[in-house]
Order: sequence, then structure tokens, then C-alpha cells
Amino acid sequence: MVLRRETEQQQAAAVAEQLYDAAYIAAHPGSLEHFETAKEKFPSGVTHDGRFAEPFNIVATRASGAYKWDVDDNRYIDYVTGHGSLILGHNHPQVIDAVAEQLQKGTHLGANHPLELAWAEKVVEIVPSAEVVRFHSSGTEAVMMAVRMARNYTGRTTLVQFAGHFHGWGDTAFGGAGGPGLPAALRGLTAVLPCGDLDAVEAALEDETAAAVIIETSHPDFFTLPDPAAFMQGLRDITERTGTVLIFDEVVSGFRWAPGGAQEYYGVTPDLTTLAKILAGGLPGGAVAGRADIVNTLSFDPQARGGRAKILHPGTFNANPLSAAAGVTCLELVADPAVQEKATAAAAALRVGINRVLRDLEIPGCAYGAVSMVRIALGGEDLPPEEDLLRPLPGSPDGREATDDPALRRALNLGMLMGGVQLFNARAITSIAHSDEDIAHTVATFAETAEKMKGVGLLPAS
Ligand SMILES: Cc1ncc(COP(=O)(O)O)c(C=O)c1O
Repeated sequence: MVLRRETEQQQAAAVAEQLYDAAYIAAHPGSLEHFETAKEKFPSGVTHDGRFAEPFNIVATRASGAYKWDVDDNRYIDYVTGHGSLILGHNHPQVIDAVAEQLQKGTHLGANHPLELAWAEKVVEIVPSAEVVRFHSSGTEAVMMAVRMARNYTGRTTLVQFAGHFHGWGDTAFGGAGGPGLPAALRGLTAVLPCGDLDAVEAALEDETAAAVIIETSHPDFFTLPDPAAFMQGLRDITERTGTVLIFDEVVSGFRWAPGGAQEYYGVTPDLTTLAKILAGGLPGGAVAGRADIVNTLSFDPQARGGRAKILHPGTFNANPLSAAAGVTCLELVADPAVQEKATAAAAALRVGINRVLRDLEIPGCAYGAVSMVRIALGGEDLPPEEDLLRPLPGSPDGREATDDPALRRALNLGMLMGGVQLFNARAITSIAHSDEDIAHTVATFAETAEKMKGVGLLPAS
């Protein structure tokens, strides 16, 4: 589908507003009150761009398992799942016990501690590329460090990345286009290629001036590639041949695609891997893991660095003991592939349920995604054919564009919230806490929402 023109978009936004705003505002007085004050304290009243929603988002007070509650005590089935960090669901008892125990012993020991070693040992045990690990406080920091390591190791500068792939908000892997606050001088440091085009990668690397190729191994666009494993293997072959460091950004896919992440799932081992989210069991944390000769460019031992200069690495909260406690316990649990299988089964049931609703209501669009991730694309041209409803990876670039229509997104978001379901910007990330009943309720809520949207002309018939 072609994106609506601006005037049509404005009309659609007005319809979306009429459809839900009054009822939503009435059901969320506490969230509204919070939001009004928060707007004066934070830009737009939010602390993460992804949490911004019109007319305002819910304000949560507590969570447990698959659920969260807002200040007005409305309960939601939560598909934000800690921005993807909670594959075990909220407040897994073993993780909570481990953190509580460490809490009594100290929140920052300002020294090496046993849990950081246990944490690193788990990463090395589970993640195929991990020979050596260094912890950080976030995925953004891990990406910054991985690229710095690659530059230091190769003595080259350019970073090759893929259009639309997200690597955090640092100045390192920012998509090449620059942007507010990003000096124009940074632009030449990054080459941005279309994902899936190995010829373009070959051409970009042939002069052997690129330090690294970084790929977001979980990116939704990636699900629409005919053969992601072949693309990753192609990247591996070309980077190996040209002496370029291959970085898998597994901040999302790590411990989710498989215990060993996308690299285990696709059978391709990168040189460096960036990790965060599930790594730290729902607390802040990140890591670079990978080849010892590259990661050891942080070492104080010149021999371990292969004669290269040492990279600086301070960071007040690196390997924080609370994050390490949560991380070790979480990794012990997610090392069992039954965890990924259960979360994936929940997402598959959600995809199939939503696609059935779309087909029954004759609304164009589809739910697609890999493993335990679901993206809902409304208004795309093609309904998935019957036989595709059960496939895990249907995708339509047109459909993806259509969900970016703010009016559709707003109506979908508010309709689902009113039915007790919180999506994450037209996405759902599942955990082992999502039960069959939760999925059934979510699909029923989606059916009600989609029918209502169609009824007021927000969704075209196919
Ligand atoms: C693929 C990817 N890389 C990096 C990051 C940045 O991680 P963080 O938010 O922990 O800084 C994210 C965050 O969502 C991500 O999805």
C-alpha cells in the first residue's frame, strides 16, 4: 500500500482520536495526571522515545510474570517485556532471589567480584563466538566498544552497516545519514548498504579499508530476506577474505533466537558479538564477547594486544554486581533451549491468530517476525495466503511501511490498551510467562480493535 497522503493522514488521525481518546482518557486518569506533570520535567514526558504515545502512554507501577499494572490499577498483558530483556517474564523468582541476596552484600563493590567471573563463564559457555568477554552498562556501549576494538585491531576506519538496522543511540553506528547533534564529519566514517545485497558488501570491502561490518541480527527487515543464513554466511566469507571484523549485534537476538543467539540459530560465527538485554536478566548491562586476539586489545599486557595500543575502558557500572547476579541466574535458565522454544511458540500462536483475524475480516496486512518477536503490519496490500498463515516468516515491505502510519499505530495501540494488552509500537515480544490464555485474549482484543478500525474506515478492505 502507498502511504496515505498528508491530508488523508490528518483525517485518519482525527478518526483515530474520536475512536478511542475519550474512553482511553476516562479509563486512565492517574496516567494522565502523571503525564501532565512529567511533561514539565522530561521532554514530552517520557524517558525513552519508544515509550512516547498519543494522547499519553500508561504509567506502570508494578509487574509480575506476563502482566503489568498501571497507576489506575488496570492490568495489561505485557508485550514490551522490558524492551526484550525479560524472556523469563517479569520478576522470575530465581532472578529476584539472586538479586536480593546480592543487594544485602552491596550494590557496587568497586572491585573484581566472583559474580562477574561466573557471568563471563556463562557467556563463554553459551555464545559460540565468545572466547573472552568484557562487560558494559548497555547495548549502546557494547556497540561503541566493539567498533572501537575493530578499528584498533585492523588499523582501519570505515564501519559498514545496513540501512534501517538499529545499534543504539551512540555516535558510532548511527546509520550514516547524520542527524541533529551528529557532526557532519562523522558521515564519512560509515558506509550504509542495503541489507541482503552481498554484491554491495563485496564492493564495499574489496579495497580492504573497512574495519568492520556490523549487522543487527534481529532486525525486522531481515525476516523478509529469503535466506538470512545464506546472507550471514556470505558476510562471514567476504569479511574473512578481506580481513574485516564481522560484528553481530545480538543485543536483541542474544539468548532469544537460541541459547547461543542468532549465531547458533543461523550457524555462522562472527568475530565479535554485542550483547545486552537478556544478558543481564532485566537489569542494566551489556558486553562485547568474541575472539581473544581482538577483545584483548583492552589488555594491559602488550603481548596479549599483539603489539597494538591499549584501548581505554573505564565505566562506573561495568559488571555491576546486581546486574551480574541477575545475569548469571538468567543465563543459567536460558541455556535450556526449552525457554526459547516456549517463548517462540507463544509468538507463533500470536502471529497465526492475528493473521486469521485479518483474513476473516478481510483486512490487508499480516503479522510476521522471527522466533519470539511479532510485528503487526496493517494496511499492506497482500493478505498472506492460507498456507502462509502458519509460516513463521511471512513479510511484506509494503505492509511494514503502512504500520508507520501514525493514525493506524495510535488506534491499534489504544484499542489494545483498552482491551488490557500493551504492544510495543505495533510489535509484541513474548516470554515464557505468556500463557495460551494470554495469547487467546490478545488475539480476541486484536479482533475487536481491528474490526472497530475497519468500521470507521481506518483500515481499507482488501
Ligand atoms: C540491536 C540493538 N543494538 C543496540 C541496542 C542498544 O542497547 P541499549 O538500549 O541497551 O543501549 C539496542 C536497543 O534496543 C538494539 O535493539
